[in-house]
This record gives sequence, C-alpha cells and structure tokens, in this order.
Amino acid sequence: MRLRKKWWARPELEQNNKVIINPSESKGKWREIFGNDNPIYLELGCGKGRFISTRAKENPNINFIGIDLKDEVLVCALRKVEESEVNNVKLIPLEIAFITEVFDEDEISRIYINFCNPWPKKSHNKRRLTHNRFLEKYKTFIKPETEIWFKTDDKDLFEASQEYFKESGFEIKYLTYDLHEADFSENVVTEYEEKFTSLGMKTMFLIAKLNV
Ligand SMILES: C[S@@+](CC[C@H](N)C(=O)[O-])C[C@H]1O[C@@H](n2cnc3c(N)ncnc32)[C@H](O)[C@@H]1O
Repeated sequence: MRLRKKWWARPELEQNNKVIINPSESKGKWREIFGNDNPIYLELGCGKGRFISTRAKENPNINFIGIDLKDEVLVCALRKVEESEVNNVKLIPLEIAFITEVFDEDEISRIYINFCNPWPKKSHNKRRLTHNRFLEKYKTFIKPETEIWFKTDDKDLFEASQEYFKESGFEIKYLTYDLHEADFSENVVTEYEEKFTSLGMKTMFLIAKLNV
C-alpha cells in the first residue's frame, strides 16, 4: 500500500535530534555525533524501522544509522526508535545515490540491506542498492573486512547480487535461499519480510565480506 505524502512528516523529523537533516555536514564526524568510538552499522532503506530499532536495543554498544528516501516512512521509523528508548540510533532522510557525501573513509563497520527494490528491468538494474555502482560507493567509507548483510524475496536480484558482490571484491561468507528454515539465529524480521512470508514467499539471505 502506498503511503500518502504527509505534510507534517518533515517538521516532525526536523525537530528531533535523532534525525540528521543535513548529513553531509557530519561527514568524518560520526564518532563525535554519537559521542563514543563504538562501531557504526548502517541500514540502507530502513523503511518503518522495526529492524533498526530492534537491533539497536539488542546491541547498545553499536551505533546504528538508518537511511530512507521517504519522510513519511522515516517518521514511522523515528517513532519506533523513540518507543524502543534507545540512544544509539540516528536517522537520515537521503537518496542513497548521494551516500558518499555523508560518510568518510573507515567510518562504517557493517551495512544491512533489507528488501530493497529489485528494479527488474534490465535498463534499471543499476539502481539496485547491491549493484556494483553502489558497492563501489560503499567501499569508499567501509572498514576493511566489513560485512554487508542482504535479504530479499526476489530470486533474480539475489542471484545477480551474488555476482555484483564477487565482481566488487566481496567474498560470500554465508548464503541461504530459505532464511527461516536455516540455522541462523540472528535474524530480525522486517515489515516487508513479515508481509512476503505471509504470502508464502521465501526470504533469501547472504553475508558478503569485503576482501582487502
Ligand atoms: C521495499 S521497502 C523495504 C523496507 C524495509 N527495509 C523492510 O524490509 O521492511 C524499501 C525501502 O527503501 C527505500 N528506498 C528505496 N530506494 C532508496 C534510495 N535510493 N535511497 C533511499 N531509500 C530508498 C524506500 O523508501 C523504502 O522505504
């Protein structure tokens, strides 16, 4: 279901210090912003925020940043983060194509990509968040040996992504075509995952690690 554009979303985001409205001003300063040296994990396309708020609550010694393009979903994520009473999350309204303007070398220690748009048309493939065009951007700010955790219900995207990762110098450390039946205990079910699972679709999952 499409969310209607909500006129109040931007003011609600702007008045909360968990939301970084001008993130390029924070490039190279994320440790200062969190006020500690804990590792920083990114979620790209965080949607309504169940994943990031759960992960942050479970891992108080990790800092989390959620990015999403849409104010109206980011506001739902913000409310979920507030309900979770965590202080280790920041949210950024951003088109991920501009991500290199926001993070500096070695600032990020893990990336999560959950149920990103599959962009099935060949001419649109390069918009996929796992496409080499994006992986090369991520490589400018992730630490050596950083892992990207990637989940999807889309088999074409999943299989193409395995190639994108390998071509960009990542090693696939873990891979399953059926995460819910796999022996993997750390899963946090996202909003989309719940929806697709209820429709009988399998969640595919991999961990790709940057080789240095
Ligand atoms: C299919 S939803 C998945 C949301 C959530 N990760 C989940 O699993 O429930 C994809 C989300 O990514 C966001 N998104 C897609 N492309 C993006 C981009 N290029 N930059 C920022 N956000 C993007 C959308 O606004 C949407 O909230």
